[in-house]
Amino acid sequence: MGSWDARTLTGGMADNAANTQNMTVVVTGASGRTGSRVVQAARTAGCTVRSASRTRGFDWEDRTTWAQTLRGADAAYLVYPSDVGAPAATEGVGALAREAAGLGVRRLVLLSARGEQQALATEEALKVSGAEWTVVRASWFAQNFSEGPLVEELRRGELVFPAGEVREPFVDVRDIGDVVAAVLTSGERFVGRTVELTGPRLLSFRDAVAEISAASGTTFAYTPVPARAYGEALTGFGVPPEEAEFLVEVFEGLLDGRNACVTDGVQRVLGRSPRDFTDFVREAAAAGTWKV
Ligand SMILES: NC(=O)c1ccc[n+]([C@@H]2O[C@H](COP(=O)([O-])OP(=O)(O)OC[C@H]3O[C@@H](n4cnc5c(N)ncnc54)[C@H](OP(=O)(O)O)[C@@H]3O)[C@@H](O)[C@H]2O)c1
Repeated sequence: MGSWDARTLTGGMADNAANTQNMTVVVTGASGRTGSRVVQAARTAGCTVRSASRTRGFDWEDRTTWAQTLRGADAAYLVYPSDVGAPAATEGVGALAREAAGLGVRRLVLLSARGEQQALATEEALKVSGAEWTVVRASWFAQNFSEGPLVEELRRGELVFPAGEVREPFVDVRDIGDVVAAVLTSGERFVGRTVELTGPRLLSFRDAVAEISAASGTTFAYTPVPARAYGEALTGFGVPPEEAEFLVEVFEGLLDGRNACVTDGVQRVLGRSPRDFTDFVREAAAAGTWKV
């Protein structure tokens, strides 16, 4: 159930909110799904937040932009765009983490992907950087259905995806934001640990699309396809073949049933239950997310 790669935690909520008032936290991917929630949660915790993405002058692909973003900060949340298991992520995260540690950014939290074999090398690159590290491995985001590339497809009436009937404990990105903020600001408690975050229950992608249909009043279809056929379709849409091949391998692994169990990561860090998929769907439907 609980997934901690070192000691077992015994405490509850993050305990040192008072110490966060003078803390400066860099949040990469700040305009993205998880980063935007980390920004909110860290501000609520009293931190000074430095939002980082290309529009703010920080680019993972341009190392000359890193120091100006990191210098003077106490901690950083690292989101590698596209995929934490991509070949470039290992080198990028390792190099940035070493630079951050050298500049005195003591604590680093990396967003990783639960069950993704390809992400292990990137996690390792963080661990040997010299910084106080925490890895937050998230399961599939609930918000994949409301923000990002799958939404437009869903709005067109049919989600074609290589997930078969496998069940997944979709996690709400707001819980990721809350957990990351707690980890960044919680003394030594989470240093040197890997935290696996899931939602509270398992749903198949078919179940998820059915919940979205019921809440939004529009019938959407879910059509499972083999990962290889999905990769060929991506290539047809202009995705470079090596990128499509990488995604096929990632999906074949992630969606083979290995993640079909829940963890107590959110409860352990925050002292409360994770948000349920049904609540996410109700709120997103009320906001008109799936209006066609
Ligand atoms: N989707 C899932 O279910 C899931 C589950 C577990 C882990 N993950 C991991 O989550 C990560 C993606 O996180 P997310 O979904 O929160 O992000 P996201 O919503 O995909 O947004 C990407 C963010 O990165 C920024 N960005 C893109 N290219 C950049 C570059 N070259 N330099 C600097 N910033 C750049 C974007 O802002 P700008 O465009 O302004 O630069 C944006 O803020 C991936 O590593 C993935 O493996 C995903």
